[in-house]
Amino acid sequence: MRDGTWNPELPLPMTIREVRQETPAVKRFVLDGSLNAEPGQFVMVWLPGIDEKPFSLMNAQPVTLAVAEVGRFTRAMHRLGQGNRLWLRGPFGQGFTLEGRHLLLAAGGYGAAPLAFLARRAREEGRRVAVLVAARSRQHLLLVDEFRTLGCEVYTCTDDGSDGQPPRLAPQAVEELLTSLRPDALYACGPAGMLDALEALAREYHLPAQLSREAYMRCGIGVCGSCTCGDQLVCRDGPVFRIPG
Ligand SMILES: Cc1cc2nc3c(=O)[nH]c(=O)nc-3n(C[C@H](O)[C@H](O)[C@H](O)COP(=O)(O)OP(=O)(O)OC[C@H]3O[C@@H](n4cnc5c(N)ncnc54)[C@H](O)[C@@H]3O)c2cc1C
Ligand code: FES
Repeated sequence: MRDGTWNPELPLPMTIREVRQETPAVKRFVLDGSLNAEPGQFVMVWLPGIDEKPFSLMNAQPVTLAVAEVGRFTRAMHRLGQGNRLWLRGPFGQGFTLEGRHLLLAAGGYGAAPLAFLARRAREEGRRVAVLVAARSRQHLLLVDEFRTLGCEVYTCTDDGSDGQPPRLAPQAVEELLTSLRPDALYACGPAGMLDALEALAREYHLPAQLSREAYMRCGIGVCGSCTCGDQLVCRDGPVFRIPG
């Protein structure tokens, strides 16, 4: 367990305890260490000789990551198995803040990972949690069973309708849930286009929202400037940004 004596800016080695294929593109990595972290915070994962990249925490105790294979670094991670080591810096960034009794969470792709951590915390506090899991097709829907096990009401939507629902994009499904469920707050993590549309919806419905956004990161600690977004840094001022509603 990382405690107050550990410097989060130095990489901490952790061993992979379990790897599970979640969808055709995403693997879950359960590590043998724990961090004191809030849902929505991220870690920088270093593979010596390859690179260092940011990943949201799906759980902090034990550290659990859900990693989509998209390029060189994540391909290398997907080749790792039980017993291999990773080096982690963090946790970094501003996480989610729980507000309201009835929450709607909207997850696009691997955005389900930090929202599963948030849902666990919210359910522990006795809050009602509805989750929309969105993906391009049914086989890519991530962590649906995880959310059900946590006691969340789970809804799905797919671009191609392969989940048996009418084909639709996440913002349309979220708008339907906003009118039928009338939640107190919206939380979302997913592709930039989805988050932009949800930000507009939250403003239109005067609903408080917290959106976890991505940017290219190098340092993760507000030094290099690579994650600039307007006058803010995603690694330091985000990745979770609040819309007051
Ligand atoms: C705060 C934060 C949390 C993240 N959490 C997760 C997570 O939980 N699981 C997960 O699988 N990934 C997560 N990511 C994304 C992950 O860091 C990138 O996908 C990773 O850099 C891919 O590395 P690569 O070498 O495999 O692919 P690359 O070759 O670097 O990229 C592959 C493709 O993804 C695009 N891309 C890469 N990084 C980003 C980015 N930061 N923003 C937008 N597009 C990008 C590239 O343009 C390219 O099209 C997170 C990113 C951030 C900033
Ligand atoms: S990643 Fe370096 S300033 Fe954000």
